[in-house]
Amino acid sequence: MNIRGAEADDEAAVIALWDASGLLVNPLNDPVRDFRFCRDSGHGDILVGERDNRVIAAAMVGHDGHRGWMWYVATHPDERDQGLGRRMIHACEKWLDKAGVQKIELMVRDTNTRVIGFYQRMGYMVEPREVMSKRLDGKPVKAGGQKTDEPVVITYLEMTRRPPLPLVAPTPKKLALLQAVNPTVGFYRYLYHAVGRDWIWTDRKKLSDDALAEIIRHDRVDVFVLYVDGVPAGFFELDRREKPDIDLAYFGIMPDFIGMRLGPYLLAKAIDIAWSREPARLTVNTCTLDHPKALPMYQRFGFRPVGRNEMPSPWQRFDPVLEES
Ligand SMILES: CC(C)(COP(=O)(O)OP(=O)(O)OC[C@H]1O[C@@H](n2cnc3c(N)ncnc32)[C@H](O)[C@@H]1OP(=O)(O)O)[C@@H](O)C(=O)NCCC(=O)NCCS
Repeated sequence: MNIRGAEADDEAAVIALWDASGLLVNPLNDPVRDFRFCRDSGHGDILVGERDNRVIAAAMVGHDGHRGWMWYVATHPDERDQGLGRRMIHACEKWLDKAGVQKIELMVRDTNTRVIGFYQRMGYMVEPREVMSKRLDGKPVKAGGQKTDEPVVITYLEMTRRPPLPLVAPTPKKLALLQAVNPTVGFYRYLYHAVGRDWIWTDRKKLSDDALAEIIRHDRVDVFVLYVDGVPAGFFELDRREKPDIDLAYFGIMPDFIGMRLGPYLLAKAIDIAWSREPARLTVNTCTLDHPKALPMYQRFGFRPVGRNEMPSPWQRFDPVLEES
């Protein structure tokens, strides 16, 4: 692997690599802007590792006049465990050393605990610090849902018998609904991120692979995936672990497929499948971060509100899941 500073032409390949490495979880981070801003800053660079004209590793490095920082460190998922990550870190360190920097810092999302081992292997240590931040662009969130730092209101809903379900005709015609029996953690994380990213779904991101696998492969947890023309477009998850009830734990359509009446279509399927398992109650909850149509849609399909709760807004405080490196 040859390591060099990125050219403008590398932009698309580098961003694709960051995406494939799961680094683009924060909708407020625009990777194109980040790529260009860093290269133009005069005190940072994007390093790319390439082999056979293919970008297989990348990292952003720079300094703020005091400390050196690394961001967006990634090796291609097919090229891990070959020492490429180590070489990228060394290249960043060399870059900073040349710039006269004496100490390097970096931030790791608390959901990305696996990578801490990697950095420790590279000689980095966890320092007890509180990270504080404030946005200067006034942008709390890109799309939909609650944007303020008011408390988030969670509404709990339930239905106690099978409701009459409307016939919904979505726009796309080639639909398939398949149960993901024993889904892999990677596939599930993809579904969860693709559906929940704009609605600040973070709970499952905070789980380790093992903890997540235990839930999604539980024989009383059912994950169903909706495909449009063979492409995943949404999913729902029925949690039957609290007998005799069933909880519609997650439900959603991916952003590219919103506006095609797939939401009501999938909800009708979810409710129908849930009731075929004969629960005492079917429950669901939604909060003010969710799509504004979620609550009225659940009510229209026969759920009725039975409780409310509040939690602090994620916009009120630094959340490493949102402010990801
Ligand atoms: C983190 C990442 C860059 C590591 O890349 P990699 O090419 O697999 O790492 P290397 O092969 O160079 O590993 C170097 C050493 O770290 C160890 N290591 C790698 N990942 C590790 C982990 N998760 N936990 C503990 N050790 C780890 C390797 O075993 C190796 O040890 P050795 O030199 O003693 O054999 C890669 O996993 C990645 O791109 N992850 C997704 C993006 C990401 O999370 N980036 C960090 C954002 S803060």
